[in-house]
Amino acid sequence: MTQSEPFYHIGYGRDDFGSRPPIIALLSGDPERASMIANTYLHDVRLLSEHRGLNSYLGVLPNGRPVLSATSGMGAPSLSIVVNEMVRVGIRAIIRVGTTGSIQPHVRTGSVVITHAAMCRQGAANDIAPVEYPAVADPFLTLTLVQAARDLHVAHHVGITASVDTFYEGQERAESSANPHLLRRLLGMTEEYRHLNILNYEMECGTLFKMGSVYGFAAACVCGVIAQRTEGERVMLEQKEAAVTGAIEIAVRAAGQFDVRPLTATA
Ligand code: URA
Repeated sequence: MTQSEPFYHIGYGRDDFGSRPPIIALLSGDPERASMIANTYLHDVRLLSEHRGLNSYLGVLPNGRPVLSATSGMGAPSLSIVVNEMVRVGIRAIIRVGTTGSIQPHVRTGSVVITHAAMCRQGAANDIAPVEYPAVADPFLTLTLVQAARDLHVAHHVGITASVDTFYEGQERAESSANPHLLRRLLGMTEEYRHLNILNYEMECGTLFKMGSVYGFAAACVCGVIAQRTEGERVMLEQKEAAVTGAIEIAVRAAGQFDVRPLTATA
């Protein structure tokens, strides 16, 4: 079921789309990234809303497909609200375009990670499905991302992501945190995850994937690597642009190529 009037949080509704409503969206945590994607990679761009900093833009890909470039905000609770309302305006495929910290020595800053499944350690997801419910990306949309990465010759890795609720404690940051006292159960977690062949930490895709499976839309995630957690806690700003540009270009190309299917469940 879709709704035409503006939604309470995202600030737009189906009526704002005009005659060619988008069914695919690029979803960034950062409103500046949502704006940059729209203004750099899309044409005929129109601002739909800046409500609550959840900037959303409607634009057109080079192949003529309408696409939404939207902001999820940081973390799973905000993402869950935005995604719920996006599905109700008619979105049927969502590619998260984010940033991430690598926990494997071979996954270098500047490269990208395409997540095929998440170890979801997020409270918001537990309101949507049981904790044991798999947090898996849509396989077809994920393959489209992988093919785009190959076509564009962007250094990429495909694997499992730890999707957690906090940037500091939940990613075992103590030196750069206001709270140097990590809970005992979090100490040594990064090394444990490394041995489980988890590639990286991020903060949204686990809940997005569970929502995709429960609601019946295609969800996928591509993130630029901006921290190397085998070496330290810091975000490497000097490599952020290359990493984020790689992730965006993969997502934009995939958004133009993916064969979006109808919704498979009632949202
Ligand atoms: N995003 C995260 O969640 N962690 C990082 O280290 C970098 C970006």
